Amino acid sequence: MAGSLCGTVGGRYTAHRAENLHMAEILVLYYSRSGATAELARQVCRGIEAVADATARLRTVPPVSAESEAPARPVPASGPPYATLDDLRETQGLVLGSPTRFGNMAAPLKHFLDGTASLWLSGGLAGKPAGVFTATQTMHGGQETTLVSMMLPLLHHGMYIVGLPYTERALSDTRAGGTPYGASYVSGANAAPALTDPEKALAQALGRRVAALAVQLSRG
Ligand SMILES: Cc1cc2nc3c(=O)[nH]c(=O)nc-3n(C[C@H](O)[C@H](O)[C@H](O)COP(=O)(O)O)c2cc1C
Repeated sequence: MAGSLCGTVGGRYTAHRAENLHMAEILVLYYSRSGATAELARQVCRGIEAVADATARLRTVPPVSAESEAPARPVPASGPPYATLDDLRETQGLVLGSPTRFGNMAAPLKHFLDGTASLWLSGGLAGKPAGVFTATQTMHGGQETTLVSMMLPLLHHGMYIVGLPYTERALSDTRAGGTPYGASYVSGANAAPALTDPEKALAQALGRRVAALAVQLSRG
C-alpha cells in the first residue's frame, strides 16, 4: 500500500506527499449528510491506495443553507478538512462523490464546483482523470442521473472521465449499487451505512482505475 488510508492513520487527514516524480495523489472529494457517501469515499480510498505509487487525499465540503453567503466554518467539527482550490490544483486525479438529491448532485458540492472558474480559465484540471460516486435511498432513485450530473462540470474542465466496465465482475453480481457510470450505494432505510460486497468492490475498483491512470499519465 502506497500510503495510509486517505491519510487517516494517526488522526491526520493529509495524505503522504508525492515521494517520487511518478507518485500520483488523488483527491477524493465528497459531501455526505448521514454517512453513506462518506463510507463510499473510504472504499474509493482503499482502491486508490492499493495502486503502487498512488495515494489519496480525502476532503469534504461544508453544507449550504439560506445563509450560505456567510463564511462557512473553516474547519469541520469532525472528519476530513474542507476542500480548497489548492487541493484540486495539487492532486493528479479526482474522485467526486455526492448523495443523490432529486436525481442530481447535492447543493454543497455544486456550490464548491461553481467556485472553480479560475481553474477552468487556467486549464488547471485539463487532462487529469476523474471518477464519480453517489448514494441513493432507493434502487431507482436516480443514481445514473446524479453520476452524469457530476461528470458535466468535470468534462467542461477537460478531465478524462473514468467509469466501471463489465470486466469488473461485481458489476454483473450486484443486486444493489454499482453502475458503469461510477460507484454507488443503495442506502435504503439503513441508519448506518452497510455496503454490500459488490458495492464495496466497485467503489474500490473506481479508486484503483482513476489512480492507475493518473500514475500512467504522470509517467508520460
Ligand atoms: C432533499 C433530498 C433529496 C433526495 N433525493 C433522493 C432521490 O432523488 N432519490 C433517492 O433515492 N434518494 C434521495 N434522497 C436520499 C439520499 O440520497 C440518501 O439517503 C443517501 O443515501 C444519503 O447520503 P448521505 O448519507 O451520504 O448523506 C434524498 C434526500 C434528501 C435529503
